[in-house]
Amino acid sequence: MKLHILYFSPTGGVRQVAQKMGHALIAHFGDVLSVSEFDFTLPQNRVVLPAFTADDVVLLALPVYAGRVPNLLLPYLKNLCGSGAKAIAMVVYGNRAYDDALVELCQLMQMADFNVQAAGAFVARHAFTDLLAGNRPDAEDYDLMFRFAQAIADKCRGRELSREGEMYSLETLKADLGKPLHYYRPKDAAGNAIDMLRVKPITTAQCNGCGICAAHCPLGSISVDNPKEVVGKCMKCCSCVRCCPQQAKAFTDPGFIYHRDDLVRCFGKTRGRCEVFV
Ligand SMILES: Cc1cc2nc3c(=O)[nH]c(=O)nc-3n(C[C@H](O)[C@H](O)[C@H](O)COP(=O)(O)O)c2cc1C
Repeated sequence: MKLHILYFSPTGGVRQVAQKMGHALIAHFGDVLSVSEFDFTLPQNRVVLPAFTADDVVLLALPVYAGRVPNLLLPYLKNLCGSGAKAIAMVVYGNRAYDDALVELCQLMQMADFNVQAAGAFVARHAFTDLLAGNRPDAEDYDLMFRFAQAIADKCRGRELSREGEMYSLETLKADLGKPLHYYRPKDAAGNAIDMLRVKPITTAQCNGCGICAAHCPLGSISVDNPKEVVGKCMKCCSCVRCCPQQAKAFTDPGFIYHRDDLVRCFGKTRGRCEVFV
């Protein structure tokens, strides 16, 4: 069979998880003839859609944004066609919670004719700060990925499954399909919603116009001619902040800073749970 590893990963956490999970699947399936990696982070990689057959296995991995699948990716995801391929839905979150993201991704994949066999939520460094899950994924996460891949291979082969610990039946997740989904709304100290919709990064005097941020922006929103200008929509993915060699891009909006610091206060010392469903 062919294994396709698809992911969207502005700051590298999802890529790390997806690649590691890909290796675990190759080890357990044993008959993987070819592996294709499809990184659709950049806009130019979302122009041509990947194609699958019913004999393929597809791993689709996305970051959790506001407890959901990144909403600006929905038009792309809705255009995918699984052609009945066996599929694994995966979301990666930054130590707060994955909320409705995994159910939403399963739902989207089923609608796109993927035959969803398994789903998993994993943890990686939060794009906003290294103080949230800065050392994830770690050995414990890799161990779960390995056991998850074993269970997926067993399921696809019709072998009996043994589930333990953070491994649940896919039916428990499927029971939530069709239920109303909610976005997570950060709140300020007074309990009022923080609106970050129009927030964009600032560019400091450190910027030397190299254009690396423009080349890495998943929405193509940074001007190539003048990288100091963020001309289009911003999804707050922090790709520009993390890739700038001059550290010239930053989010300074008070609401953003409050939310980031509040996340560190609330989730900086806890271990976000990985959960898998097969
Ligand atoms: C705009 C935005 C919203 C996020 N929302 C959540 C969230 O609701 N829960 C959570 O635990 N992590 C959240 N995160 C953290 C990401 O899910 C996490 O950093 C993920 O690993 C990012 O993937 P990447 O490293 O491949 O870009 C958010 C990150 C961003 C940029």
